[in-house]
Amino acid sequence: MFCVTVILFKLLLVIEGIQINYIKVPPAVQNNTDQSVILECNYSIRPDDSELVVKWYLNDAVVYQWIPPHKPQALGIMKDRVNLSYVSSDDPKMAYRSMQIINPTTNIAGEYKCFVSTFTDEDFSMKSMIVFVPEKSLELFHSGHTNQKINFTCTATEVYPEPKLTVFKDKKDEFENRNYLQAVEWSTSRLPTGRYSVTITTSILLNKIAAGSLVHCELKIPGTGYVKRKSMLYYPPSEYE
Ligand SMILES: *[C@@H]1O[C@H](CO)[C@@H](O)[C@H](O)[C@H]1NC(C)=O
Ligand SMILES: *[C@@H]1O[C@H](CO)[C@@H](O)[C@H](O)[C@H]1NC(C)=O
Ligand SMILES: *[C@@H]1O[C@H](CO)[C@@H](O)[C@H](O)[C@H]1NC(C)=O
Repeated sequence: MFCVTVILFKLLLVIEGIQINYIKVPPAVQNNTDQSVILECNYSIRPDDSELVVKWYLNDAVVYQWIPPHKPQALGIMKDRVNLSYVSSDDPKMAYRSMQIINPTTNIAGEYKCFVSTFTDEDFSMKSMIVFVPEKSLELFHSGHTNQKINFTCTATEVYPEPKLTVFKDKKDEFENRNYLQAVEWSTSRLPTGRYSVTITTSILLNKIAAGSLVHCELKIPGTGYVKRKSMLYYPPSEYE
């Protein structure tokens, strides 16, 4: 019984006509920078297999299709946004497998899928791409105090997608533990452009922060590796006046 299963399995492997080795989709790109990106779909096809079709989907809609010997086409939202003469391999069965997107913008972010099929077989692979907009401004300031506590407020404007803000103090290098200030109030607003403006207010006891401490606000756009920091020197409240 085991033998039969193994033989069947091997037979299936032999019949396999097409297989995606990998796809490459940039995980994050900045909006509207006039720089193109290339989405690669690397597959292996059996020399005797026929009726090759290569398709790229964005969020389940076909946006690119190549059915040799025809020319590739860009469809739907990707119409007029792809360099259709981009050739990624000398092999006639792979020439137009990849898609070069001219100037990616936020409306073409999402899940990309390369789907390949032949007469006998098919395969697909997916990866997502974020298109982000850096903040217009990032501000950090002290915002009120009592005898015991002081507040620091950090504001980031017009970021996309929604960023995360944290406030911490005294960090000297990347390896040191951060002293996060406690968040006491936060708000996020979505602007008509789709961008986000975010404010976080944090609080710390006056006896926990020494004069001359550095206070930092860090903005991160999740999933992109984009990080921005604003820092200020702290002096006790009386010295602000
Ligand atoms: C990204 O850039 C395009 C082109 O300038 C613009 O229309 C779009 O609003 C931008 N996206 C965001 C979220 O700002
Ligand atoms: C992708 O596929 C081609 C053709 O099968 C192969 O020669 C190549 O090594 C693969 N990798 C890259 C990075 O192109
Ligand atoms: C700090 O901010 C919180 C939330 O806005 C506010 O309720 C509190 O009164 C502020 N504290 C000080 C010391 O200004």
